[in-house]
Amino acid sequence: MSNALPNILDRDAPAAAEAAIPTSATARTATTGGVAIELRDVSKAFGSGANRLVAIDGLSLAVGGGDFLCVVGASGCGKTTLLNMIAGLDKATSGTVRVEGQPALIFQEAGLFPWLTARGNVELALQLRGVPRRDRRPQVEELLGRVHLAGFGERRPHELSGGMRQRVALARALAQDARILLMDEPFGALDAMTRDLLHDELERLWRELGLTILFVTHNVREAVRLGERVIVLSSRPGRAVAEFAVPLPRPRRLEAPDVSALASVVRERLGEEVRLHAR
Ligand SMILES: Nc1ncnc2c1ncn2[C@@H]1O[C@H](COP(=O)(O)OP(=O)(O)OP(=O)(O)O)[C@@H](O)[C@H]1O
Ligand SMILES: [Mg+2]
Repeated sequence: MSNALPNILDRDAPAAAEAAIPTSATARTATTGGVAIELRDVSKAFGSGANRLVAIDGLSLAVGGGDFLCVVGASGCGKTTLLNMIAGLDKATSGTVRVEGQPALIFQEAGLFPWLTARGNVELALQLRGVPRRDRRPQVEELLGRVHLAGFGERRPHELSGGMRQRVALARALAQDARILLMDEPFGALDAMTRDLLHDELERLWRELGLTILFVTHNVREAVRLGERVIVLSSRPGRAVAEFAVPLPRPRRLEAPDVSALASVVRERLGEEVRLHAR
């Protein structure tokens, strides 16, 4: 993997002209100032007229390079919409989204190609990046090793457990040479033990590779276990209503008293938000 920092990618709102939205690496501009992701006063509405639904309203946030930011919020508050805009899959209705390089998205379902082996899924990401064939095999082996799947390269997704499939998805994200990971409830479908292991591995990869991670979850304790910061989104339309620093030593345990104590404070704030909008 190259350690070179990718350039800034502007995802300005359509008002700033379609041309501002790059379609290739050549459209990227330089200078980052250490900010990997920046949203300024971003709003996103779907539909029009009576069917118009404002999913996100005036959301601003900045994620520094190397940060691990967790975002919690009630179902439907716009978390996936937020990630989609940062990934460039969707455009803001107004406001500015700036991203340093092309991030990789990891969803709750690993989203692997079922007809390809674990090796094939990871190799495809390298191929799409233009890595020559002779260099791909050793890189795939290295990446599978990083996520503790050495020896499982020939398995197809249906021959892997849910946790293993998420590891392949992680290896594939790393194969994209993305320095930013956008994770949407990636461990929500896993059993507690597998999830604990993947928390440890994600933390290790974050540290070793200096990744920037934006991690969305319903699970407040998971957010405190992983994040350097936790942001609480309001119920729809989503806005950042509170931010908590997580100054707890690592490695953290999900069940540790200090994690539980801070999670209670965050959960209380999230609960207020949900009650406010449930009235
Ligand atoms: N393509 C779309 N067209 C219309 N409405 C949409 C679209 N995508 C999302 N929405 C609406 O925007 C709101 C936010 O959706 P989003 O998926 O971002 O929520 P979420 O916070 O990720 O929820 P969950 O926690 O359940 O995954 C919801 O009311 C949803 O119905
Ligand atoms: Mg979602």
